[in-house]
Amino acid sequence: MHKIKRLENIKVKINIPADKSISHRAIMLASLVSGRTRISPLLLSEDTKATLECIRRCGIKATLKNKKELLIEGEGLYYPKTKKVILNASESGTTFRIFSGILAAQKFPSCFCTSPSLGRRPMARVTRPLLAMGADIKAKTKRNEKYPPFCISPANKLCGIRYKLPVASAQVKSAILLASLYTGQKTQVIEPFPCRDHTERMLSVFGVKIKKKGKTITLDPVKKLKNPGKIFIPSDFSSASFFIVLGCILKNSEILIKDVNLNPTRSGLLKVLKRMGANIKVLNKKNYFEPYGDILVKSSKLHGTIVAKKEVPLMVDEIPILSVAASFAKGKTKILGAKELIVKETDRIKSILYNLKKAKVDVSARTYKDKGKTDWLIEVKGKGRPEKAKFRSFSDHRTAMSAIILGAAIEGQSYIDDIKCINKSFP
Ligand code: S3P
Repeated sequence: MHKIKRLENIKVKINIPADKSISHRAIMLASLVSGRTRISPLLLSEDTKATLECIRRCGIKATLKNKKELLIEGEGLYYPKTKKVILNASESGTTFRIFSGILAAQKFPSCFCTSPSLGRRPMARVTRPLLAMGADIKAKTKRNEKYPPFCISPANKLCGIRYKLPVASAQVKSAILLASLYTGQKTQVIEPFPCRDHTERMLSVFGVKIKKKGKTITLDPVKKLKNPGKIFIPSDFSSASFFIVLGCILKNSEILIKDVNLNPTRSGLLKVLKRMGANIKVLNKKNYFEPYGDILVKSSKLHGTIVAKKEVPLMVDEIPILSVAASFAKGKTKILGAKELIVKETDRIKSILYNLKKAKVDVSARTYKDKGKTDWLIEVKGKGRPEKAKFRSFSDHRTAMSAIILGAAIEGQSYIDDIKCINKSFP
């Protein structure tokens, strides 16, 4: 057990590591363009190291200049390897799902493995569209669902697709968009609700014509990518979210977080917290291919809110920390459309219930029907102050960090069982 240090009366300016989602995409796209791309700063965490190792195993030279700067020497859309490659995405779902789209188009066979915990996460959502495009992927099958490892053979021919995503998943959308680079045809992906668009933005930086109209993303046929030379990655909004909530719930405090990614498909938590009465200001906003700026947050008097289903994909990784904020708020917070949380690094509905109940917060979750389909609803009734407790991370980085923020704002000594998992996104 690790002791959680209690905090109050803090006034700090902090820097957060580079964005994880954008780092994965930058490594992947730089590996598919001819010539050298310099990525700086880059997030070098357990997850992004897995992506880096994958491109290296496919024959791409990638040199770390220091812990934050990476040089990638790409050779074009096709990797130089000719013989079978064995790859490991480790714990990184983003690596596994998105890189499968690239591997499906390569001219060599591959066996794509994962850690046992990622091996339990559903993958039919990615095999279905890739198989429909003509990919040759064999996956472990259990009760109508697909799981890693994937055995991928070169496809006879990959074709463009018009695909309606059954779930608002940026990973699945990205796998389709990257596979479509090899089809020489137009591809369209239709989202049920907008979800993070880092791949679309990054593809534009690499010269791909991609546009969004309503719910439809259209990618024009591509011959090759254009080398942007260098890529700057702003700080990770999801990592910043813990300190945003911390600033709100601590007494007499003020936290300034520098250069945070403010992409609206990513920063949904800001809108929700502001609706809850949070004292948050965005300063020095810059319009790069990903907008970013400084976030100033001060102690706030929060009240409950209702989070709509369509808001969840814009803050899908921030629900655990939002539930911490809701525990300190006055009144009830309802989070609709929470079903996807069940298939994250851990079942985050269970981990939220476990940790908040430990702190004597009135929290519950139940299913409900939405257009005939089952979804999940989380309800937090904030009253007074949560109480000190021994928390569990469930080996999930976002659960661990949320519990630490909760423990830091509670009177008395709280504990957390494991913090190693935080290396996944915030080493
Ligand atoms: C991610 C997309 C989200 C998110 C994950 C990272 C990405 O997953 O939860 O942590 O980088 O594309 P889904 O695509 O499953 O929603």
